[in-house]
Amino acid sequence: MKTNKRTRTLLTMALAAGIGMTLHAESITICDFENYEIGQQVSLWNYYNSPITTATATVVADPDDASNKVLHLQVKAWNVYADLPLPEELVSGIAQKYSSLKLRLRRASSDEGDYKHFAIFQGAELLYEDDGWPHQGNKGVWLNREYGLTNSSNVNSDRLRLGFNSDNVDYYLDDIALVKPFEINDEELADTHSLRYYAEACGKEIGVAVPAWRYNMNDDNLAILQTVSNDFNMIVAENCMKFDAIQPQRGTFNFTKPDQLVAFAQRNNMEVRGHTLVWHSQIAQWVSSDGKQNDKNWTREQLLEIMETHIRTVMTRYKGKIREWDVVNECLSDNQTTINYQSSAYDMRTESVWQKVIGEDFVDSAFIYAHRVDPDAILYLNDYGVEFKGRSKTEALYNLAKRLKQNGIPIHGVGIQCHLDAGNIDASKIAANIKRYADIGLKCIITELDIAINGTKNSAAYQQQATDYRNICQAMLDNDNCPTMMIWGTTDDLSWRQPNEPLLYDENGGRKQAWYAVRAALREEASKHTDALAPTLSNTTSIIEQTYYTTSGVRLKQPLLHTPIIVRTRFADGTIETKLRIIR
Ligand code: XIL
Repeated sequence: MKTNKRTRTLLTMALAAGIGMTLHAESITICDFENYEIGQQVSLWNYYNSPITTATATVVADPDDASNKVLHLQVKAWNVYADLPLPEELVSGIAQKYSSLKLRLRRASSDEGDYKHFAIFQGAELLYEDDGWPHQGNKGVWLNREYGLTNSSNVNSDRLRLGFNSDNVDYYLDDIALVKPFEINDEELADTHSLRYYAEACGKEIGVAVPAWRYNMNDDNLAILQTVSNDFNMIVAENCMKFDAIQPQRGTFNFTKPDQLVAFAQRNNMEVRGHTLVWHSQIAQWVSSDGKQNDKNWTREQLLEIMETHIRTVMTRYKGKIREWDVVNECLSDNQTTINYQSSAYDMRTESVWQKVIGEDFVDSAFIYAHRVDPDAILYLNDYGVEFKGRSKTEALYNLAKRLKQNGIPIHGVGIQCHLDAGNIDASKIAANIKRYADIGLKCIITELDIAINGTKNSAAYQQQATDYRNICQAMLDNDNCPTMMIWGTTDDLSWRQPNEPLLYDENGGRKQAWYAVRAALREEASKHTDALAPTLSNTTSIIEQTYYTTSGVRLKQPLLHTPIIVRTRFADGTIETKLRIIR
């Protein structure tokens, strides 16, 4: 049967009577079906109030958790749309009060066939529409979905309508909620704690890329550097450790700025990420004039040797000081053509001298070389455009990482860069992407987060940006295999994405709304942790040294992750504190 727009049937789910609202800090649940009886039929009505016989909506026990009630929707007709029942006080101006609609969705495991059109409308405005793989995800598992609400002038009604447009729909639905945009309240303003303070209470790393060429990294009185060490427990060089900066001539290494950055981190008890060892961009001229062509006519063996020497020299210098490295950066093509449903394919970037001369296994070799130099280093494959689950490049990174892991290559995780645009971010798809790396034994961390404001910079735009920052931070907090979130730059004026003001601080180093949003997410999570597992919070800037032990007292070179360890902290005033912690 073909879709016929003129005969579109609009159904109303008459749920309004049983709505129970739950308030959380960030969202309001408008329907979780807990007030219904199991087996209760929810009537479906079309737009003109006639009952529908081609679809049923029944409250049932969650197939994964018998104590939870959910809605089971079965539709045997095209163009079926159901109104979401909003309490009257929420109906008007919904997009001014809320930033997105959230729900949980589960395709029945027996549900065969790929075409399952699913859509959400706000009034007449289509908010979201998908027509099958890869957006709808796996069968038989609950998926978190989040859809941004719009302020568009086309919206002629505030009704939210949810549609399943196919003649063989079989879905479960639960926890329909509206998410509030972030707001700075009095509680926020009264709180004097830093981002780092709460991140450490959660056992997480919050980091920043520092434009070391702009600052005197030795000057501990520089206000911006004080902000950096106060708010962050991890640091990465924005440029000075890249190939062109660190080995500008063959065999000549420039370690001045990198050394200063590492020393700064050590003085302030911060971890360091190394960025980046092998990349086609910002490559030294002597290797390739543009990173793409082999204009120096290297053979495969020669280029492998260049790569090995570079990795060995740089990593040896910072062994024990730089805990983790982006070993390979941006090796995937932007244009993924071979990938399809459930395939393990990926397309490599062809315009890279490494790929052209060595072939795809330059990636394998880079990780092996890096692991040989420092077996304790945590090794990452980093890329952009790989954030949202379902996008082809995201799938490609997953497939490549999985291939490397299965081949026994020493890879410990992927970095998703997250150079994103405000108002265009479905954080639930980032969270779902992060989560599945855990299943293949890999971390997935946020390495270069910045969120550009593309349109007019007004209060709504800054609020959107803040909300997006909060939601992404939450994706990190919700996933144990995501221990780290790095912000790509300090103040807006120095950002590589200027004039789009994508960072947490304005040009004067002042905290933006986005800063408060990140802190609010961290604080809420930190408040869930018990005292016994909370880290030392006395005064993070006055820590002289931290040492780590197993619970049986064996000294560790580096903290073990995800498992309880003893952290011994020595402060500037001579006091020593010993605490049990889980570092994630
Ligand atoms: C950017 C820096 O921020 C700029 O200062 C520089 O001019 C270009 O590179 N992906 C990466 C980062 O992995 O290294 C890039 O950093 C941004 C995109």
